Amino acid sequence: MAVYRSIVILTGAGISAESGLRTFRAEDGLWEDHPVEQVATPEGFARDPDLVQRFYDERRAQVLAAEPNAAHQALGRLDREFDGDLLLVTQNIDDLHERGGAERVLHMHGEALSAWCRACDARHPWQGSLRDGPACPSCGAVAMRPDIVWFGEMPYQMERIFSALAGADLFVSIGTSGAVYPAAGFVQQAADHGARTLELNLERSAGSHWFDETRLGAASELVPQWVDEVLRA
Ligand code: APR
Repeated sequence: MAVYRSIVILTGAGISAESGLRTFRAEDGLWEDHPVEQVATPEGFARDPDLVQRFYDERRAQVLAAEPNAAHQALGRLDREFDGDLLLVTQNIDDLHERGGAERVLHMHGEALSAWCRACDARHPWQGSLRDGPACPSCGAVAMRPDIVWFGEMPYQMERIFSALAGADLFVSIGTSGAVYPAAGFVQQAADHGARTLELNLERSAGSHWFDETRLGAASELVPQWVDEVLRA
């Protein structure tokens, strides 16, 4: 195995599936019984804020009840022991990467355990309900929404992600279907800058043909194996 100096990892809902958190596009996926346009767009929030707040209150409770699995813990170990550059970009809104021990984590689609005040723009760690319209701890306004990037909104810290992709010599995608841009385009960007590209997923994704290598299986098995390889190299 080659020795890498700069790794960018992209994770999706599949890495948290074995922790009991539903993915989005599987047969029993979240989008099967929650129309995206109702619960994951600014327009849906304007139309029915109570429906949206209830949806994310449930997600927040599920995240708090979940535990990191062997894949999260393996990436936590990689973060501790890998002395090269590492950026773990996640599309997930759960905090299982952090609870698995990873620190160099970037949540490009926001976080379930964070609330965003639309009056003063402050963000607050949040574990309770937003449905009852709690006042913002900073400005007192009743204007808080889930700190989640909805469809039609710009993902967070894209400049930081692009510069990490430009400098990476290895790009690894774990547990994502490659259905949603801009994340689905990261493999091409990394490859265009000369990085080797590896996909770890339960099934082939929409972007599998872009990767140098695809390994199929459960994240809780594939990720610890891959981390062993990298740290042994
Ligand atoms: N191990 C590895 N991969 C898995 C596992 C597992 N145990 N279980 C499922 N997968 C794979 C599936 O095969 C699928 O390719 O994870 C992927 C999950 O795909 P999606 O449900 O589409 O989730 P994701 O790719 O994260 O969605 C991207 O879309 O809905 C929006 O903002 C939301 O961040 C999300 C984005």
